[in-house]
Amino acid sequence: MDGSLVRFDVTTTPVTLKTLRQMASRGEAFAALTCYDATTARWLERAGVHVLLVGDTAAEMVLGFTRTIDMPLDVLLALTAGVKRGAPSTVVMGDMPFLSYHTSDDDAVRNAARFLTEGRADIVKLEADESFAPVVAKMARAGIPVCAHVGTRPQQVALTGGYTSTGKTEKQAKQIVADAVALEQAGAVMLLIEAVPDAVTDEVMKATTAPLIGIGAGPAPHGQVLVLQDLLGLTDRPPPFAHPIAKLGEAVQSAASDYVRLVAQRQIGGRAKPSVTTNVQSGTTQSGRTTK
Ligand code: KIV
Repeated sequence: MDGSLVRFDVTTTPVTLKTLRQMASRGEAFAALTCYDATTARWLERAGVHVLLVGDTAAEMVLGFTRTIDMPLDVLLALTAGVKRGAPSTVVMGDMPFLSYHTSDDDAVRNAARFLTEGRADIVKLEADESFAPVVAKMARAGIPVCAHVGTRPQQVALTGGYTSTGKTEKQAKQIVADAVALEQAGAVMLLIEAVPDAVTDEVMKATTAPLIGIGAGPAPHGQVLVLQDLLGLTDRPPPFAHPIAKLGEAVQSAASDYVRLVAQRQIGGRAKPSVTTNVQSGTTQSGRTTK
């Protein structure tokens, strides 16, 4: 490595699961972000993001619910297909929502397959502990690439009584490592670990070989994922590990308030573009923060 920033030219080199495996084995970290629509997917692909996760966080980010367990399967399938249409050269991961893989193995395999066929996903993700190993094996047998999401599992929210992180006790830490090992042995080709102490991530990495994506689980994983809206400064209360690196919420608000003003001034609707310089065009928000 010469230290330069290596990026895939996604217009000519599609990112595949094989690419991610190669990056992981070379020690090159890959970047994943959540994405729920084709337009954003197009920009994220142009930016060189390697994996787009159409997460059940769409329940919160798109539909306005407060819990991911409210995400309807059919809506998530449609969003997944839209993301793949927007980013055909990027790995798209469809997130199996609450109850889409719990009621029976047959339903689970069928729903996972729907993510590949209707959703055009490259891989499905499901929140799991070791008890899900048999259904993961059935998915693998059917030819469905699976990413097993271990550690903190937000779909357990009703049971845990809130979004609390795990892995802090020795018993919990051992269980998470056992979950990851069992799910990989069952056929999961990728793992995702959420909100655990860094030491637990290290143990999982020692015990498994599949590429591991982390979120709030330390810097060691082969890849990192964040909820896009948290990264871009669009959410009011991002989790502590989210590191917002933009303030797009303020930029959107500023542009929209410029629009309100231009409409009021009857400068919108004609053929000519508004002659005034808006805050966004000049690169500043109303608070004066530079956006370009
Ligand atoms: O649904 C989602 O966005 C996720 C990430 C938070 C990992 O599962």
